Amino acid sequence: MSHIQELIRKNRSYRRFYEEVSISRETLLELIDLARLSPSARNAQTIKYILCHTPERNALVFPNLAWAGYLKDWTGPEPGERPTAYIIMLNDTRIFDNYFCDDGIAAQSIMLGAVEKGYGGCIIGSVERIKLQKALNIPAHFKIIQVLALGKPKEEVVIESTVSGNIKYYRDSNQVHHVPKRPLDELILDL
Ligand SMILES: Cc1cc2nc3c(=O)[nH]c(=O)nc-3n(C[C@H](O)[C@H](O)[C@H](O)COP(=O)(O)O)c2cc1C
Repeated sequence: MSHIQELIRKNRSYRRFYEEVSISRETLLELIDLARLSPSARNAQTIKYILCHTPERNALVFPNLAWAGYLKDWTGPEPGERPTAYIIMLNDTRIFDNYFCDDGIAAQSIMLGAVEKGYGGCIIGSVERIKLQKALNIPAHFKIIQVLALGKPKEEVVIESTVSGNIKYYRDSNQVHHVPKRPLDELILDL
């Protein structure tokens, strides 16, 4: 397997972490530098980042995130298994109010960098944006796009093939998380 295949396979959405393993500000800056070097529509580079990596600030972020919608009997990581850092991605509307798909590219760059460093995490789009904006005193011209939750993963995530088109991820009795991916031939349109 090539390095890029290995990295992308390992870069799963992780939602439980060793909370005692912290991530430094320097590490977060290295990850954001990967986003900085990533493609940007019109090269406008409107996305800004807020770093959180202390227990006090992390506690302001966590209550505003929703976890794993398909796992109906799980409301999110317990204390001790929560992310040790967050990167909040915001659009700087003073530059331009459209960030096209820069956010996804930047997020993937950060996540791949995190995995390469032995961390992992989850892109969280389900965010209480108004509450989080208030909790962190974020000025109104910055619009929260999404939050990257990061830490040292404490769970196993296994890639599966979809069965009958069922894309819902699930957790088995050993607490292993399974992610169904559609097979390649389903994605290719031979038109
Ligand atoms: C834009 C985006 C938003 C997401 N939002 C959430 C979220 O709010 N909560 C969550 O637990 N997972 C979220 N995820 C993670 C997806 O559920 C995850 O990518 C999907 O289940 C596939 O698993 P994988 O990342 O391991 O391939 C999000 C992923 C993306 C790309």
